[in-house]
Parts: sequence; C-alpha cells; structure tokens
Amino acid sequence: MVPSKLRALFCLCSCLTLVHPFVWQDLNPAAQMKSPAWLHKIKALMAAASFGQTKIPRGSGSYSVGCTDLMFDYTNKGSFLRLYYPSQDDDHHDTPWIPNEEYFLGLSKVLGTHSVMAKFLSLFFGSMTTPAKWNSPLRTGEKYPLIVFSHGLGAFRTIYSAIGNDLASHGFIVAAIEHRDGSASATYYFKDESAAVKGNKSWLYFKTLKRDEEEAAVRNEQVRQRAKECSQALNLILDLDHGRPIKNALDLEFDVKQLKDSIDRNKVAMIGHSFGGATVIQALSEDQRFRCGIALDAWMFPLGDEVYSRIPQPLFFINSEQFQFPANIIKIKKLYLPDRERKMITIRGSVHQNFDDFTFATGQVIGCIFKLKGDIDSNVALDLSNKASLAFLQKHLGLQKDFDQWDSLIEGEDENLIPGTNINTTYQHITTLQNSTGIGK
Ligand SMILES: *[C@@H]1O[C@H](CO)[C@@H](O)[C@H](O)[C@H]1NC(C)=O
Ligand SMILES: *[C@@H]1O[C@H](CO)[C@@H](O)[C@H](O)[C@H]1NC(C)=O
Ligand SMILES: *[C@@H]1O[C@H](CO)[C@@H](O)[C@H](O)[C@H]1NC(C)=O
Repeated sequence: MVPSKLRALFCLCSCLTLVHPFVWQDLNPAAQMKSPAWLHKIKALMAAASFGQTKIPRGSGSYSVGCTDLMFDYTNKGSFLRLYYPSQDDDHHDTPWIPNEEYFLGLSKVLGTHSVMAKFLSLFFGSMTTPAKWNSPLRTGEKYPLIVFSHGLGAFRTIYSAIGNDLASHGFIVAAIEHRDGSASATYYFKDESAAVKGNKSWLYFKTLKRDEEEAAVRNEQVRQRAKECSQALNLILDLDHGRPIKNALDLEFDVKQLKDSIDRNKVAMIGHSFGGATVIQALSEDQRFRCGIALDAWMFPLGDEVYSRIPQPLFFINSEQFQFPANIIKIKKLYLPDRERKMITIRGSVHQNFDDFTFATGQVIGCIFKLKGDIDSNVALDLSNKASLAFLQKHLGLQKDFDQWDSLIEGEDENLIPGTNINTTYQHITTLQNSTGIGK
C-alpha cells in the first residue's frame, strides 16, 4: 500500500463525516461535496460494511479455502503470518479481514492524521470478512506447493486475501507475512511467555522517516530485514512440515500439527506487492530455496546495486499501468541479463491498488475517484494477474496442473494486457536512477 492510497482512504473517511456531522465538525475538508448522490453512495457503503458483507472474491479454483494466523516464536524476532490453504470443508465462518482496531490506528499513523481517523476506518471496514473459512481443517492427502507473500509499505498480512484465496483454491499453501521492519501499518508480538499466554499484545506501529534520515539507507535496511523474515517464515513452515513440535503463540482452533507432510518442499516461490516486490528480489538473491518470484508493481528503490546480478531464478513482473515510472523500469530492466528468465506484463487501465483487497472494499464511484480502482474492473484485473501467475508458477515449479492454459497471458496476449511495459525509457538519463521518487511504494 502506498501513501497515495492512504490519502485516498483519508478522503474516503472525510466523506464519512457527511454521514456523521456530529463528529469532527471542524475537520471536514470534504464539506463542499454535499451532493445527494454522494450521500446515497456512502450510506449504501456503510450499510454494506456494517452487515459484514464483502465483495472480496473467493478463489476461482476447485479447492475450498481455509485461513488461520500463525506466530512463532512470540517475540518480534519471530515469524507472524496469515496462512491460506486448501481446506477439508466449507463449514466454518468467513475470516475476519482486519482483525484488530490497532491496524486502523496504524493506518491513521501512516496517513499522518489524528487517531480519530482510526475510528472511521474501523467503522467502515472493521466488520468485513474475506471468504476463506477461519481455522477450517487442512485438506489432507496431497502435498502442496508453497508461496511466501510479502506486503507493501503501510500494509499488513491480511489485506491481500483475494490473491491468497485464489492461490489456495488452486492447491497452494500461502504464507502471507507481517513484516516487523516498521513498514507495516501495525503489527504485534508478545513481550514474554506470560504475556503470550494472557494474550497481552505489544504493538509495533509504522515507522515514519525522521528528518535527518536518508530514505535509501532506511529502505535498504528494511528490505534486507524483510528478506530475512521471508526465509525465516519458510524455515518455520518447513519445520512444521517435518513434524517438529511448534506451538502457535496465538492459541487458535487450527492445530498446526496438520501441516506435517503437507508441503511439496521443492516447490516454493515468492510473490510480493510494491515494497514486497523488492522483497521478492532481495529474498531470491539470498535464498535459493525460492525457485521463482513474482513481483506485483515492484518498487525497486530499496534494492542495493549488488543484488541485480545475483538472481538466477526466473522473475515475473506484473505491473499496473498507472504506477510505473522510467527510473523504476530502468532498474527492473537491469535484471534482464543473458540466460535469465524474465517476463513482464502490464494490465491496461489498472492502478497500484488493484493488487490488494481495498480495491474490492469500496463501490465503483468512490474506488475510482480515490484510485483504489482503475478503469478496468477490479475482478478482471486481479483475475488476469492471478492466472498469469499460476501459468508462470506451473512452468517454473514444474507443477502437474492445467495452469498452462494461461501461458499466453505471460506474454501479455490479452486485450487487457500490454506485453512488457507502457513506459518508454529510451531517453532517460542515468542520473534518474539516483532519484528517490516520492511516488508509490
Ligand atoms: C500487559 O503488558 C504491559 C506491558 O508489557 C503491562 O504494563 C500490563 O500490565 C500488562 N497487562 C496485563 C493485563 O497483564
Ligand atoms: C520513446 O520516446 C522516444 C522520444 O520521445 C521516441 O522517439 C520513441 O519512438 C519512443 N519509443 C516508443 C517505443 O514509443
Ligand atoms: C534527480 O537527481 C538529479 C541529480 O542528483 C537532480 O539534479 C534532479 O533535480 C533530481 N530530479 C528530481 C525530479 O528530483
């Protein structure tokens, strides 16, 4: 998630003050937007949110999908992730989407706004669910390939569920990490064992850059920590697959012992969005167990120069039309070395936020105005991204599935795709590489 998106959420919440004029009277930048159409739309959205309805799509594959959270160990040096997996049945309830108020407080910190914003966000999104069955038993009798997923700046582990659901419905186990590098809106851990037993959480909020900090150095340190967290999460899942006795610090109904012998250990890949795209590249350069990587609107700025030559694994860049810019594309193209498998496509009419769940969490009008949605239908955009990803994963993990039916999407052959990029870098001077862009991350 990026600052522009958060500004969008800020606007969205400002609009909510139209419905709640008794709160926040003097902080109402949207006061001029008093059209009845707006009011109607917002009321409809509020109603949908308060009934816990969600338009986050279920996966399009044939497996039922379960979801649970896993934390081990309990400290901030441990792993924290949301797991999407093929499930035995569809009996359980849907999964709470943003499960703690503190995540909304974190979002308000990212926005740089008053914490009262958290209340609006919570009111708007707090009761939403995603259509994966919470703590439902793992479907047995098959070993699943594993995807480690890395979120964007200001995001957190739960808001890429449309992608998690879809991959799990096609027979993957997906571990969506929550990073502890200060790039998540919020995250938590436990100070000691008794705090873990009592469920007394310690919260770690989004870290804003200090005035004297150089962004390049900070982001590079973060991307390195993020890559370590990806490898550590992989270790954890593989330990569970081996049947090592590991106790989830979150005392949930899902018994992690079910994960014994559940993973196809040689079929592991990474996917990430934005800062998470950079994390894919950093992690693959450090850990050869990740056999290929998919970067959704990768933000290349955090990466050091040394990584570009260190990734023998195949990489696939799936870009939105609106986010990319020459300096970023020039960096991506530095990865196109001889004998390396590199692919890139761009989804027409898409925006940076087309890859996370917020694109599904608002209506068309508000979503478009605040760039949570592009000109393209959000379902069509994510479906293309997911199917192209599945085809790429089948090819490079050696899966015995039918995902090769979507091979042409990897080449950008679809009316909604551009092969490669929409960005023309022909006359970009090399110094642009040194610039921090300030746009999305
Ligand atoms: C929770 O932890 C904090 C600090 O770690 C402590 O001050 C507080 O007393 C704890 N609360 C409970 C109910 O144990
Ligand atoms: C890129 O831009 C240059 C300069 O404006 C132009 O000459 C060139 O044809 C463009 N290339 C493409 C592929 O559009
Ligand atoms: C990019 O960097 C160059 C050289 O460091 C500088 O002259 C230029 O103003 C920067 N451009 C932007 C858009 O920041």
